[in-house]
Amino acid sequence: MKIQKITCIGAGYVGGPTMAVIADRCPHIQVTVVDANAERIEAWNTDHLPVYEPGLDAVVKRARGRNLHFSTNIDEAIASADCIFISVNTPTKTEGEGAGKACDLRFIESCSRQIARAAENHTIIVEKSTLPVRTAEKILEVLATAGREKSFDVLSNPEFLAEGTAVKDLENPDRVLIGGQNEAAIQALVEVYLNWVPKERILTTNVWSAEMSKLAANAFLAQRVSSINSLSAFCEATGADVDEVARAVGMDTRIGSKFLKAGLGFGGSCFKKDVLNLVYLCEHYGLPEVATYWQQVLEMNEWQKKRVAQKVIQNLGGTVQGKRIAVLGFAFKKDTNDTREAPAIALCEHLLAAGANVVVHDPKVSFVKIQADLKHSPFMAKNLHSAESAEQACQGASAAVLATEWDSFRHLDWKAMATKMSAGAWIFDARNCTDHRSLKATGLKLWAVGK
Ligand code: NAD
Ligand code: UDX
Repeated sequence: MKIQKITCIGAGYVGGPTMAVIADRCPHIQVTVVDANAERIEAWNTDHLPVYEPGLDAVVKRARGRNLHFSTNIDEAIASADCIFISVNTPTKTEGEGAGKACDLRFIESCSRQIARAAENHTIIVEKSTLPVRTAEKILEVLATAGREKSFDVLSNPEFLAEGTAVKDLENPDRVLIGGQNEAAIQALVEVYLNWVPKERILTTNVWSAEMSKLAANAFLAQRVSSINSLSAFCEATGADVDEVARAVGMDTRIGSKFLKAGLGFGGSCFKKDVLNLVYLCEHYGLPEVATYWQQVLEMNEWQKKRVAQKVIQNLGGTVQGKRIAVLGFAFKKDTNDTREAPAIALCEHLLAAGANVVVHDPKVSFVKIQADLKHSPFMAKNLHSAESAEQACQGASAAVLATEWDSFRHLDWKAMATKMSAGAWIFDARNCTDHRSLKATGLKLWAVGK
């Protein structure tokens, strides 16, 4: 088995960047990315990629048209591939058995059916999407409906990239995990990664371990964020400084320094969905104590988002009715245009519901996207505004909340800002991403998470 033609179903935040890096690093492999969303595919074929990631434009430019192609002809791309990555979305179910927790596998199922219909000869199927443990079994069941002349191997190769650093993570991964049953199929995929990943970072396991490891890794990361956020409240109550505590704790090599940044709560399309899925699976397998343990990570996150919004209202004299509040940053973290589960959404909803005039500025998120994310707030249309810059958002504002840690916010001129804001204005640094000393020197009032 040798992989020469890869097709990836799903041209999203994972499929697009992952395939761009594979094509860039493996010029001898033809890579086609397909999607049911024609608009998305069209954007991948322009200079305005649908996904913002530092460094991605250059990678796509080098490979596109050479051995990287974006297409809507899914059947043709399936038929011609010897290896198919499934990188479609796997959201939380909204109805039926397990609604609100379990993973919705409808897109995985429809891809599997399409592959069963359109594939030719032998094909290696790679689970790139994050999936519940034992999904490979379900995919194989669907593939078994294909004719006898077709055969398949299913591998699990979960993706660990984080948004905002996707290109860096893909080019220099901590590890590549490949789970499977057939040694020859595993080896064929290992050969692809060996084009740029050192051998010792490629880990092979059984399929179930690979599927489980992805959920476990996200659960551990989310747990660290909830742990430090829980302590941020404790720091505020006691006079300790959460950044100092995180530094002291993180210098213990057994603990490590990453993922100890207190903030507004974690966002993004993965943590909540994957921990919910883990909780559901634990309940399903009769492990209620384990389910409750992980559920608490999510509850702490919800509490942190609400807690910060309440701090804003309390510090503004208990009411924000009719007050202009600038929200700086809307993306769920810096260096991405992704707003899925962004904690800024919960913050804005809370402030809008309390009657505030909310003015949002984000360097990469459009106002149309912000409006769409807040469409369920009944006060949205009247009281939600956008601004071209942080300075414009703060003009005449009673408060500004730093909701995303964009680098451009680190260098804001607080002295100039103070002259634009209302007298006695507050800054709420929910990400600890500004220079507090210079900010306080301007006379602005400051609340910072965990301080
Ligand atoms: P996404 O929503 O950005 O992209 C998924 C794409 O799949 C969409 O463009 C959709 O149109 C397409 N699609 C769905 N069903 C299809 C079908 N039957 N045929 C053709 N196209 C179809 O999602 P994403 O963020 O790229 O995530 C994909 C998977 O990767 C998820 O399982 C996610 O949990 C996992 N993951 C995401 C990240 C991340 O940072 N976003 C990181 C690691 C893993
Ligand atoms: C995560 C995982 O890191 C990645 O391995 C997986 O493949 C997908 O899910 P992502 O959600 O893109 O990646 O970003 P991540 O850097 O993990 O941040 C998630 C959220 O946690 C963000 O809202 C971020 O602001 C928050 N966070 C992260 C903190 O609040 N503090 C931290 O110390 C780290």
